[in-house]
Amino acid sequence: MTESAPAPWDPARLPDQSGRTFLVTGANAGLGYFASEQLVAAGAHVILSGRSPNRLAAAHDALEARVPDASVETLLLDVSNAGSIRAAAASVRGGLFKRQRLDGVLLNAGIIHTPRQRETTRDGRELVLATNALGHFVLASELLTTLSKSASRTWTPRMVWLGSAVTRMGAYDPVDIQLEGRYRAWRAYVQSKVVVQALGIEADLRLKDAGVPVESVLAHPGYSIGGRTPRVAGVNEPGAWKRVRDGLQAPIAQSKERGAASLVRALVDPSIAGGEYWGPRHVTRGDPTRQQPSKTSSDPEVRLRIWETCERLSGMEWPFARAARLAGR
Ligand SMILES: NC(=O)c1ccc[n+]([C@@H]2O[C@H](COP(=O)([O-])OP(=O)(O)OC[C@H]3O[C@@H](n4cnc5c(N)ncnc54)[C@H](OP(=O)(O)O)[C@@H]3O)[C@@H](O)[C@H]2O)c1
Repeated sequence: MTESAPAPWDPARLPDQSGRTFLVTGANAGLGYFASEQLVAAGAHVILSGRSPNRLAAAHDALEARVPDASVETLLLDVSNAGSIRAAAASVRGGLFKRQRLDGVLLNAGIIHTPRQRETTRDGRELVLATNALGHFVLASELLTTLSKSASRTWTPRMVWLGSAVTRMGAYDPVDIQLEGRYRAWRAYVQSKVVVQALGIEADLRLKDAGVPVESVLAHPGYSIGGRTPRVAGVNEPGAWKRVRDGLQAPIAQSKERGAASLVRALVDPSIAGGEYWGPRHVTRGDPTRQQPSKTSSDPEVRLRIWETCERLSGMEWPFARAARLAGR
């Protein structure tokens, strides 16, 4: 199931990312914050996005305090809200940000502790699906031409989708994708991650077919928990009890800082190709290695059904032809 990595990966010694710009969703906490920190430390400019101005400001301050000469700015973006996604993407496309290029997007934001009862967004979508999957389907579509325009002879821009090892725990084929029949909190999470993985694989095939110079890669962070993660003021401040509880899981868990390594590798390692799936060597923890996605999320029929369902629910189709026409290089 797990193949060996082509080379050791040290998050503190990434390939130089100077001149590149990345956007990270859910960057104010957890994996998104630590991935942003690793990218910034390697010289990248990072647009930290999140839904709360105060939490974003705290992450921005923390990052500037921890990384000398950090190049970073913030973007208000609620991935469960189509209007917020379109407004945020429009400001990125319109060049309101410091660097008028986009070399990659880390589609990280997500709900892990899913609500016990089914909840819906303002436009009536099941909340976990809308946040973890559908919002990123819309965001990636909105940013596709910006990504393709940033392609060069030396770099193919990437989108990285956040899957999960839980997708291997059973079939979980999302037929009732919005769980309108029987909602279960756990099922909502696993299904949303099957959808994310299916979209990530399908996107890469469609990008290749359309000749768009953008790669779609999948990554998962294993089991990464806050109580095993360094304290960062305003970003990760677990109490003593959480430290003890999470400490008991040490043999199977890792820090969010370490978990972020697989995400960052999927985003910047030039030896990785579109469509690949990366995660920790020992599934829940360890160094980033190439792995295989679950059978369900890579099944062509499941992928096609999920892609078409997301098109229908979002009311949009990806602008493949335009992205190919406007591509850089
Ligand atoms: N941790 C793991 O072991 C694990 C395993 C497999 C996959 N993953 C995936 O990794 C990703 C990050 O997980 P994590 O452990 O870092 O979780 P986390 O610490 O709970 O952080 C989640 C991030 O997503 C943001 N977010 C949630 N809803 C949002 C919305 N509607 N709009 C914008 N941002 C929103 C949160 O912002 P707020 O602060 O505003 O809530 C926060 O920044 C998720 O997609 C998760 O499914 C995690």
